[in-house]
Amino acid sequence: MDAASPKLAVRGLTKRFGDLEVLQAINVDIQHGEFVSIVGPSGCGKTTFLRIIGGLETAAAGEARLDDRVIDGPGADRGFVFQQDNLLPWRDVLSNAEIGPEINGKLGESQRGLTMKLLDLVGLKGFEKYFPRQLSGGMRQRVNLARALAVDPALMLMDEPFSALDAQTREIMQTELMRIWEAGRKTVLFVTHQIDEAVFLSDRIFVFARRPGRITEIIDVNLPRPRPLSIKRTPEFAALVDRIWTLIEKDVRVSVLEEHEG
Ligand SMILES: Nc1ncnc2c1ncn2[C@@H]1O[C@H](COP(=O)(O)OP(=O)(O)OP(=O)(O)O)[C@@H](O)[C@H]1O
Ligand SMILES: [Mg+2]
Repeated sequence: MDAASPKLAVRGLTKRFGDLEVLQAINVDIQHGEFVSIVGPSGCGKTTFLRIIGGLETAAAGEARLDDRVIDGPGADRGFVFQQDNLLPWRDVLSNAEIGPEINGKLGESQRGLTMKLLDLVGLKGFEKYFPRQLSGGMRQRVNLARALAVDPALMLMDEPFSALDAQTREIMQTELMRIWEAGRKTVLFVTHQIDEAVFLSDRIFVFARRPGRITEIIDVNLPRPRPLSIKRTPEFAALVDRIWTLIEKDVRVSVLEEHEG
């Protein structure tokens, strides 16, 4: 594979649920090591898009290629983090984090060392023997993150991973995620409703519109890295947030009007 070929190539990706066209001919490339966020009004197909890339849903037309291989099902090359953590309550932190390697038949001493390092990286050193019920929401999402990273996926798919957290924990998780991403430079596809979260984290932001779901704009975030939280208070940051809000607001207004007329 030549260095210039994209990590993820999406071509003509279309999805329907019955008569409803949820995604319409999405064409987009994501480069290796890029952090890309998806924003857009509720129901525009963000989760559906992620699920197709994850191989959990099939497209009606078009395709997505990861490392030049057509995605036709789930695989260990993709790590998923959802809004709600889906930790197994009867397993402790360490064995929850090791589920992926276990399923892939890769448990062993070197994997154990790697998982311990990841738990350290997400700030859970010393909590290996805790059970999910003994953890806060933020800590559970950290386990989720470590678990997704433990299979060393080529692509991380994150669907509103911090939306169940309180505002302060959320900001901490944003900086933690940035620190982890800077260390490993994984390719990330991140869905969020919070525009400032998208701007803070991303290299690029895909703005989705609904009916049918499609990409209407791609915003480059040219803010320097590493980014301290204080960058959120700069005029450059505010201008980007404003610009994206304007793009989405228009779409929300149109869809609300449609509903009233219909
Ligand atoms: N399994 C399904 N069967 C039928 N329709 C579905 C299914 N999953 C999603 N949809 C529909 O597809 C559209 C897009 O849903 P999706 O969950 O992808 O949106 P979203 O952008 O993630 O929204 P939100 O921001 O609220 O999470 C919605 O109209 C939804 O009702
Ligand atoms: Mg969703």
